[in-house]
This record gives sequence, C-alpha cells and structure tokens, in this order.
Amino acid sequence: MATLIDSGHRSIDIDHLAQSDKVHRSVYTSPEIFELEMERIWEKTWVFVGHESQVREPGQYYATRIGRQPVLLTRHTDGEIYVLFNRCAHKGAQLVGDCSGKVKELRCCYHGWRFNLDGSLLSIPLEGGYDGTDFGKDDPQANMQRAPRFDSYRGFVFASLAEDGPDLKTWLGGVASSIDNMVDRAPEGDLEITGGVFRYEHDCNWKFFIENLNDLMHPMVTHQSSSLTARAVAKKALGADTPAPAAIEILAPFTESYSFFDNMGLHAFDYGHGYSGGKTSIHANYSDVPEYNEAMESAYGKERVDEIFAVNRHNTVFYPSATIKGAIQTMRIVRPIAADKTIIESWTFRLKGAPDELLRRSILYCNLINSSANLVGPDDQEAYRRQQIGLESQGSDWVAMHRDAGRDEDLGDGHIYAKGSSDLAFRNQYRAWKAYMMNGGQSDD
Ligand SMILES: [Fe+2]
Repeated sequence: MATLIDSGHRSIDIDHLAQSDKVHRSVYTSPEIFELEMERIWEKTWVFVGHESQVREPGQYYATRIGRQPVLLTRHTDGEIYVLFNRCAHKGAQLVGDCSGKVKELRCCYHGWRFNLDGSLLSIPLEGGYDGTDFGKDDPQANMQRAPRFDSYRGFVFASLAEDGPDLKTWLGGVASSIDNMVDRAPEGDLEITGGVFRYEHDCNWKFFIENLNDLMHPMVTHQSSSLTARAVAKKALGADTPAPAAIEILAPFTESYSFFDNMGLHAFDYGHGYSGGKTSIHANYSDVPEYNEAMESAYGKERVDEIFAVNRHNTVFYPSATIKGAIQTMRIVRPIAADKTIIESWTFRLKGAPDELLRRSILYCNLINSSANLVGPDDQEAYRRQQIGLESQGSDWVAMHRDAGRDEDLGDGHIYAKGSSDLAFRNQYRAWKAYMMNGGQSDD
C-alpha cells in the first residue's frame, strides 16, 4: 500500500497527514489535497445526488454536482431515474444551465443536438453531414454519458463515478436505518422534498461542516449567543407557566449540558458514516401533534409507532456528501468547490399523510437553525471560518482528535459506540478519508 502520492506538484504523505488521533492542518488548506480528495473520494464513492420526489414526473430534471463533475438527475418516459453527465455529446456544452425543470427533451443551446431524458441521442440538425464519416449515431459516445453507477435507497438517490465498489446498500451499512426511520415517520411511507432550499457558500473547507454535525462538545459553547439568548428572552416575555412556543422548543436544547450531549452518544460505522443520538436527542421533547399521532397509529398500529418514535437521532452523516435529521425531516448536502470554499444546501421534507404542521415545523427548524441569515447556523459558520484562518497560519501543524481515544465500545458488525463527548466521529471519518485517499477510491474497512 503506497502512502506517498505524487499529486503532480509534490509528494503527499497521507500516512503522515491523517494519523489515528490527529490530522495535519494542510488537509483543510492545501489545493493539491483538495484535488486529490475530489479524485479519490468524491469522484469514486457514493455521493448523494437528489431525492426521487425532485423528479417525480417523466421529463423532470435536477442539476447538481458530484465532486467537480456537473450531473443531472432525470426521470425518463420509461419511468426510470437516470444520473447523466450534464454535457452535450457534441462539443461539451452543459445541456442544462438552471437547477431544475421539466422538458420533453434535452436540447443543447449551442448546435441543437437533442437527447432523451435517459441520455440517448434523439437527433442532430443536418444529420446527413455525418454520412460516410467515422461518426456513428449509434455509437454510445453520441449519447449523453451516464454515471457508471446510480441507485436509490427508499427515495434517496446516490451515484458513484467508479465502475466498481460496494453496492449502495452495503456502503450505507448501519446508517441505512436512519433513512428507514425518516421514511417510516410518514403515515404513507413516503417523503417529498418541498419548501424550497437554503443554498449558501462557506469560505472554508468542506470537512469542517461534515465533522461538526456529530461534534457534541460544541453546542453548549458555540450556541450560547443564540440558544441561551432565546431561553432568556422567552423566560422574560412568557413567564414560567406559559408553554414554550415551537421556536423555543427548537432553540433551547442547543445549550443543554455536557451530560445531556454525553448521554445522546455517538455511533460510528465503516466508510466514515455515523450518527449521534438514538434513544434521545435535541429533538426528543418537541410537543406532540395529536392529529399526526392518530394518522401514524391508523397506518401502522400503536406498537409499531412506538418503535418508530423510540428512534430519536440527532444528525446522521453519509460521508462525505449528505446528512439527515430524521426526527425533524431535514437534510443538508455538502458540495465542495475549493479547499476553502463549500456550498451547503439545506432541504426540508413533507411526511406524506402527515398534517401540514409537521412540514411547518421542519421549515421553522431550517429557518431558525440552518439558514445563514438567522440563528445557530451562523454561530457554526463563524467557527468554521475562524478554523480556516487559524489552520492557514503556522501556529501549529496539528488538529487533535484524542478525546476518549481507546475507549470505544465495539458493538459488532462494524458498529462502534462512544459517549457524546468522544472524538470518535472525527477519528472514524479520517479512518475512511485515509483509506479512500490511499487506496484510490476504495475504503479498506
Ligand atoms: Fe453547531
């Protein structure tokens, strides 16, 4: 196994940069390492592309990226979903310039080549000009190219630009159950993305966000300015006997105690995946919505509903590209742009068959927490930006991940558990990062 990689500029010693309990600052700052991450992680592993509800009808498309590659999620007239490179087979122009839409066909804006939504070539203007040449309309290269692999798990579409590797279900492993729980919370057993998207750019490396999602040592510090203030304002304005409004139910738990977050716990799996919470989380004490509980019980029966609601996870990370909160039906997507630039998208889901109040609560959550123009989220963004600046300095070369090292609990089948204050989530992500970076795309665990 080679540990030294010649990036074309200089050798990168992956073994040295990502050690079992510390990581070198250059993994957050180096453009060469960023390019290598795109090649060996993002353009090899399974990356979240979109949700099936974004292309419910034939002709619908959704444009996004896998690493540096522009792609389209489409629904063809055969009812199937496809993931295509957003590139005309002729002279390479992007077929689609906007984010989403519905069309009869994909027509290139440059020379008018027309394609079906499965990528197959429909027609070329003055096609006879190619008669007798080496160009063949039946040549697969005349079509829009498909991602080598794409698959859906209960409506969540992932794609891989590698021909080989574990299938999606195997790769998801222990975190597939977080998707299960989010979908099972819908009385009709299905989700729909709706309510718009917050899409914002961070001037920092993509890994700060994905690490922070299961960093349970930061909320009670970072979010004092938003959550503690919300608690204080509510106490003064409402008095002790008035029930807390939904906004306070959402904001207050961010400044729970260290022991509260410790008890939530951390769960880690292969390929860098993991979740925090489980038996309880910051979402566990939201007010009941009786109409929703009735819809769930009539769909599944009380015993099953109790099982579904007993799973109350905080963030689940599908490393490296996606995170969900099943208990509040939100999802955040990571799109790396450069070593110090990342786009984060924040989406909300409707639980099919649930009253509108559930969707309103999800949107309220995103407005309050995930929006870059409100509370909580900007606290984190400030911390990421300060990390980026600090790690670009020569103050020290290392970022520590030592907390509770060697004290993990092995639950079998690749499932590792630690209390919430452990650095387990970071060590687990870098175990996968290192394997991807050294093995050219395949995590070796
Ligand atoms: Fe935070």
